[in-house]
Amino acid sequence: MARVRLEGVEKAFDKGVVAVRDLTLEVKDKEFMVLVGPSGCGKSTTLRMIAGLEEVTKGKVYIGDRLCNDVPPKDRNIAMVFQNYALYPHMTAYQNMSFGLKLRKFPKEEVEKRVREAAAILGIEKLLNRKPKELSGGERQRVAVGRAIVRKPDVFLFDEPLSNLDAKMRVQMRAELSRLHKRLATTIIYVTHDQMEAMTMGERIAVMKAGVIQQVDTPLTLYHRPINRFVAGFIGSPSMNFVEGKLIREEGLTFWAKGFKARLPQSFAPKLAPFLDKEVIFGLRPEDIHPSPPPYPIEEGARIKVRVDVVEPMGNEMFLYIRAEENQLIARMGSDVKMEVGEEAEVILAMQKAHFFDPQTENNITL
Ligand SMILES: Nc1ncnc2c1ncn2[C@@H]1O[C@H](COP(=O)(O)OP(=O)(O)O)[C@@H](O)[C@H]1O
Ligand SMILES: [Mg+2]
Repeated sequence: MARVRLEGVEKAFDKGVVAVRDLTLEVKDKEFMVLVGPSGCGKSTTLRMIAGLEEVTKGKVYIGDRLCNDVPPKDRNIAMVFQNYALYPHMTAYQNMSFGLKLRKFPKEEVEKRVREAAAILGIEKLLNRKPKELSGGERQRVAVGRAIVRKPDVFLFDEPLSNLDAKMRVQMRAELSRLHKRLATTIIYVTHDQMEAMTMGERIAVMKAGVIQQVDTPLTLYHRPINRFVAGFIGSPSMNFVEGKLIREEGLTFWAKGFKARLPQSFAPKLAPFLDKEVIFGLRPEDIHPSPPPYPIEEGARIKVRVDVVEPMGNEMFLYIRAEENQLIARMGSDVKMEVGEEAEVILAMQKAHFFDPQTENNITL
């Protein structure tokens, strides 16, 4: 068990590629921290620097209270699980799990005890004599996790461990890894490009873009109080809608764009006053666009006219691709709402849920 602290960490590869920039992050002892961001944003590089598989160009890496910049990987007491599992094909599950302990000259009884314990936790006791090719993807992933558990590391590092599994197995393993974290009570740093995985598993999430951390917070804070347009668009599915327009004064502060005229609640006035008569980007999540008339009371709703382009029924709900002049939006509504493709309809924007972004900095100006 240990906290992990990165202080101003940077990684520059040859040919001037800077994969990670001035990254400062503290992962608390026993915390489940997720690093999330699009492919190529520097997640794996960050994890590999914590593991010691990649040297840091600048900055400091602490595991516990120990400065680890010059500590070799094997002496950091961390265990890493990779996307491709990296199991030895010619060894059985038991041998794969016990191999690292044997190398470290653990007594035979201790090795056996730890492997049996880990196998019981993961429900793979009956698979220990099988080789990787005789296991399904999910079973291989459990063996790879088991190999990490037997080490009793201070910190687990996971790099996209569920990417090779089918959708259903991913959902199941998500819950299993969350349970495992509670049971082991160990620090976990988990890397994924999938915001849904991040939201469901992370106690806190660090959102990365182009080598830079954008925001670190709990899943719900990221969802409700995104610091900038990137975080707002990355977290949540379908993504937040964005519309470029202007703030004007017309019976109170109003957002204006093609096909839009939406009055804002009074509470926005202090923060948005400096943007009066200026360009802004309006952001609203799909679930904050409601049918008209609304089946429930909505305070501060603004009505706009739209055309329905596509309807995607999901069973319990539906996604509507709608358009106010050329501004396209996605709305998420109950599957009982009657709206047909090609129809002109009216929808209600729940304006108290709106976010506004400065088009220059892309920062959220409503926080
Ligand atoms: N060994 C390397 N040499 C040069 N560039 C690299 C190397 N490893 C990664 N990169 C680059 O660093 C950036 C971040 O990569 P990575 O950390 O693997 O991203 P992620 O895991 O978020 O997809 C990418 O632009 C990638 O091409
Ligand atoms: Mg990666």
